[in-house]
Amino acid sequence: MRKNIVAGNWKMNKNLQEGVAFAKELEKALAGKTLKCDVVIGTPFIHLASVASAIDTNKIGVSAQNCADKVSGAYTGEVSAAMVASTGAKYVILGHSERRAYYGETDATLKEKVLLALENGLKPIFCIGEVLEERESGKQNEVVKSQIENALFNLSAEQFANIVLAYEPVWAIGTGKTATPAQAQEMHAFIRETLAAKFGKEAADNTTILYGGSANASNAKELFSNPDVDGGLIGGASLDVEKFLPIIEAF
Ligand code: 13P
Repeated sequence: MRKNIVAGNWKMNKNLQEGVAFAKELEKALAGKTLKCDVVIGTPFIHLASVASAIDTNKIGVSAQNCADKVSGAYTGEVSAAMVASTGAKYVILGHSERRAYYGETDATLKEKVLLALENGLKPIFCIGEVLEERESGKQNEVVKSQIENALFNLSAEQFANIVLAYEPVWAIGTGKTATPAQAQEMHAFIRETLAAKFGKEAADNTTILYGGSANASNAKELFSNPDVDGGLIGGASLDVEKFLPIIEAF
């Protein structure tokens, strides 16, 4: 059975002290609660070690937002998957549309990043999603399928079992324009079909597929009630415990 996950992506927000304080506050708020989902927070690199040592990472998973496409060496400013894993982080968000759009990440570099993350025991939260123009011209399925094929179809079924997918329509990110629950369900079902054709139905059924894009406390319940929506990757609404907690509790 696949897991439900609610993951926060802080993006480039919060200094170190604010990040650690948030993590402790969230841990306190979750204490004693029985949750129907796993909880993950995606912090900037420099926060990872401090956040991971401030909380129980078996209760709140810690995630990086990127890692290098190289093992080690003369790559000034880069952070390797091994370095991320050494902090106590268990996840890494890869292929976020902001990385693709602003930092030129391609399917080819993402393929390398995924392999390195897996080799180092990290679970990639792999982001896919179309831009508005692609949706308006009815190309969303084609775009998402090729993002999955190009970066993940080289994996063995055993490797693929460690992948979490996040469908984030780019037009819904930070815009306040959420995909409708029907649009999310339709795409998630298509993604699961695509995975089943390659890795088999059981593997597809076991894959957690998150929705991301202006998800918040008011729409989470409806989005998560769809059979193929297994949680959310939350940006803006993951920055305050009082906004993030009701999304976790929407399950
Ligand atoms: P928002 O929730 O702010 O739209 O961001 C979504 C996102 O990009 C999460 O990775």
